Amino acid sequence: MTDLRMFMDTYKAKLEERLFAAVQNEAIEPKLKEAMHYSLLAGGKRIRPLLLFATIDALRGDKNLGLHAASAVEMIHTYSLIHDDLPAMDDDDYRRGQLTSHKKFDEGTAILAGDALLTMAFSEIASDETINAEKRIKIVQRYAKNAGALGMVGGQQADLMGENRDLTLEELKSIHARKTGALLHASVYAGSVLGDATQEEQERLSVYAEQIGIAFQICDDILDVTGDTAKLGKETGSDEKKQKSTYPNLLTLEGAKKALNEHYALAIAALVDSGLKTDYLIGLADLIVKRDN
Ligand code: IPE
Ligand code: IPE
Ligand code: MG
Ligand code: MG
Ligand code: MG
Repeated sequence: MTDLRMFMDTYKAKLEERLFAAVQNEAIEPKLKEAMHYSLLAGGKRIRPLLLFATIDALRGDKNLGLHAASAVEMIHTYSLIHDDLPAMDDDDYRRGQLTSHKKFDEGTAILAGDALLTMAFSEIASDETINAEKRIKIVQRYAKNAGALGMVGGQQADLMGENRDLTLEELKSIHARKTGALLHASVYAGSVLGDATQEEQERLSVYAEQIGIAFQICDDILDVTGDTAKLGKETGSDEKKQKSTYPNLLTLEGAKKALNEHYALAIAALVDSGLKTDYLIGLADLIVKRDN
């Protein structure tokens, strides 16, 4: 097994153990608890937590300090998927290889499971006694900013407004940077705080994250056209059905692949001669652009 694979397996397992524990509270309303557990532990690539752990590793820090911040970002991400799939948004029936939350339960429960995961994420960081209060506040602030109106939620709104419309490449890039890039960026930022990055390291990691974030969504758009439903765990053709603005749609499939590679190259370039231990960050970037799920 490669070192990257071993790192991924080890930290995915630690993360999932923590996610499992986080939703075990006896006092949670049973149906809500079931719905939270259903979406959170349905698999998923866990790319945001892995980026966080890989960033700490790049700074030669203690990866175990990232456990709660990593769980929190996966809770926020999972909430965003539950809401993204609702009939009022992308109206999708499958996610992570199983029925979407509103199909398995009902719309009200899906909305509330998302709300509960989002709020639980902030408690997960705020009550993390393994890190000092100053770092907790920095991470809470950045997660709130990047997940909220200026970040992911704003990007999702712009994505809705982009249905049935022709956007410019700049507009589309801004949607991708916000709806998807912002949360990947926040994960790398949390890792940089926990790994005590210098200002220069922080800046390089930020460029890496920004570029990899856009690349990740371009790849998602490409897979919506060329991917395999069984491997993806969600149905292809969702963007076409909703007349979404996507990279393949704006630039053709070839153009989208070219843009993907350009963003990947910029991400890698930011790490060159940085003094960081970059093997996991580069390995994850490779997976992000070559993935089939
Ligand atoms: C899907 O995210 C939604 C996007 C932001 C593109 P992922 O591709 O990370 O989904 P999971 O977590 O692996 O299911
Ligand atoms: C989702 O983008 C972005 C967020 C969930 C914030 P998509 O709508 O393209 O994601 P998928 O394809 O449904 O996973
Ligand atoms: Mg969407
Ligand atoms: Mg969607
Ligand atoms: Mg998509």
